[in-house]
Amino acid sequence: MIQINAHYLKLKASYLFSEIAKRVEAYQQQHPDAPVIRLGIGDVTRALPDACIHAFHQAIDEMAEDRSFRGYGPEEGYAFLREAIAENDFKARGADIGADEIFVSDGAKCDTGNIQEIFDINTRIAIPDPVYPAYLDTNVMAGRTGAYHDGRYEGIVYLNGNAENGFIPDLPAEPVDLIYLCFPNNPTGATITKDQLKQWVDYAAANKAIILFDAAYEAFIRDDSLPHSIYEIDGARDVAIEFRSFSKTAGFTGTRCAYTVVPKSLMAYTATGEAHSVHGLWNRRHSTKFNGVSYPVQRAAEAVYSTAGKAQMQELVNYYMENAALIRKEMQALGHTLIGGENSPYIWVATGADSWSFFDMLLENAGVVCTPGAGFGTCGEGYIRISAFNSHENVTAAMSRIRQALKS
Ligand SMILES: Cc1ncc(COP(=O)(O)O)c(C=O)c1O
Repeated sequence: MIQINAHYLKLKASYLFSEIAKRVEAYQQQHPDAPVIRLGIGDVTRALPDACIHAFHQAIDEMAEDRSFRGYGPEEGYAFLREAIAENDFKARGADIGADEIFVSDGAKCDTGNIQEIFDINTRIAIPDPVYPAYLDTNVMAGRTGAYHDGRYEGIVYLNGNAENGFIPDLPAEPVDLIYLCFPNNPTGATITKDQLKQWVDYAAANKAIILFDAAYEAFIRDDSLPHSIYEIDGARDVAIEFRSFSKTAGFTGTRCAYTVVPKSLMAYTATGEAHSVHGLWNRRHSTKFNGVSYPVQRAAEAVYSTAGKAQMQELVNYYMENAALIRKEMQALGHTLIGGENSPYIWVATGADSWSFFDMLLENAGVVCTPGAGFGTCGEGYIRISAFNSHENVTAAMSRIRQALKS
């Protein structure tokens, strides 16, 4: 008898976005003439930068001729892209990362989900609450958790984010081996300072732990004092893996390109304490299960680092950040406490009510869709996430509708 992986039965069905879709559909059926404005799911809305489109077209033309056609490429990515990444995203910021420590992939979601399989099943995992759900669910699938009660899985060390700590969790009180951190944060928009991040790096070094640092939103950082990469912190090369994505940076959510940095000096251990290179393990995993990102997509990603590409990417990010500033201003004027939106595209708003009631109220009275914070973890209760990924027109209209709904 073929048996399923029973750990999958512990998963909460992807409740959050399916529940949102259900409620939005019900609303639309009742109000067919009232268009909904979606500030919920974090997908981008603007076209790829011209420089990327141009490089994309050119690479497709190369694929059309036998003499320039490319078949399978290197699983870890073409040297042209890995070198551009190392130079621009790391060396230019004083972070000592080489092109041969970069693994190009088709998404940070896959990489943050897949990375856990190179670590032991009994690894003690620390996960923030609220959190990007993929970190948790992939560990549930792997069998690292017990049952789910009251919004939490047994066997996970939760790192609570709340108004008191500004949604920057404290170091864990009990020993852990693998720590997920994401800054600028999804869903809260919180950012971490170099001094705060140094405490995590020191903790990991002292405990022979590894930090999985998700920097998918680093392009939205405005404050020059904030770290874009964990490798800007001394010692991080020996304790951290970093995930990056072109999805939000350059509008690649549908084009798919991302990368993971695994420094060669990063070690993990056997049960008897023998050190092994994590780079070697990830290389083995990546090249066994993945056959590389398509050549035209890698050329499009490389173009993000051209002079024109950098300017266009900045313009794209600035556009969304103008939305973020408007959302912050309007929600604050309505008396809501909030964080985020200054160095991130997400604004995390205290609702003064439970998350789903506030979601329903915004949908019913304003026709605006946000994301209930409770869907990201128990500590998200009492908050909503508003995303800046939409057109200026839609965000302006949404804020005007919310103003009227909350004032009436
Ligand atoms: C924190 C975080 N990491 C990773 C991802 C996924 O990125 P990608 O599109 O590269 O898979 C997202 C997407 O929303 C995200 O919010």
